[in-house]
Amino acid sequence: MTNNSIDNLLEGNKSWVRNVTKMSPAFFQDLAKGQTPEYLWIGCSDSRVPATEITNTLPGSIFVQRNIANMVIHTDSNVLSVINYAVKVLKVKHIIVCGHYGCGGVLAAMSNNKFGFLDNWLMHIKDVYRLHEGELDGIDDLEERGRRFVELNVVEQVLNLSRISFIQEEWEIGEFPYIHGLVYSLEDGVLHDLEISVNSKDGLHTVFQYKNVK
Ligand code: CO
Repeated sequence: MTNNSIDNLLEGNKSWVRNVTKMSPAFFQDLAKGQTPEYLWIGCSDSRVPATEITNTLPGSIFVQRNIANMVIHTDSNVLSVINYAVKVLKVKHIIVCGHYGCGGVLAAMSNNKFGFLDNWLMHIKDVYRLHEGELDGIDDLEERGRRFVELNVVEQVLNLSRISFIQEEWEIGEFPYIHGLVYSLEDGVLHDLEISVNSKDGLHTVFQYKNVK
């Protein structure tokens, strides 16, 4: 018995390999030698927001971590390991947190609905709501409130990144990595820069600023 759905993917792969090889015969041999991506992307798992396609970049360009609602949670050893490798070994110059309007995770966190096991993950997003409830509660239109919540969630994840001690260590010795917050619009495919880039711990609450102990 064949599984048609998987066959679709395998056939798609074959034609992709053919197309890429036609355009660039040494593409795979070159990439197989190693990766030197300039970017780390922390995005949502949503199938509609694939990092390389929407930025028109090729394999090898972006180191990627995706999870529900593009979260940076300091007890999540998965995301922290990805960030650590990207910063310490790959020496990426830019870390991008990319949210997207209409994010199911963010909208679920805004609601009072139960989602079972997922509630534990969504709790971290609810914490973002609590931090910004003055502003968010002031937006009567629920769709508009959801859009602002998506943006504020990206802002908080950028802050979460800048609180990581091994990122602050990099800033002690150089200017990289820069951390950026972007939001993707599903309706038109456009990425919006929230213009909150940071590469220093200076703006952080002092309790999050690490100092080197002599
Ligand atoms: Co999402």
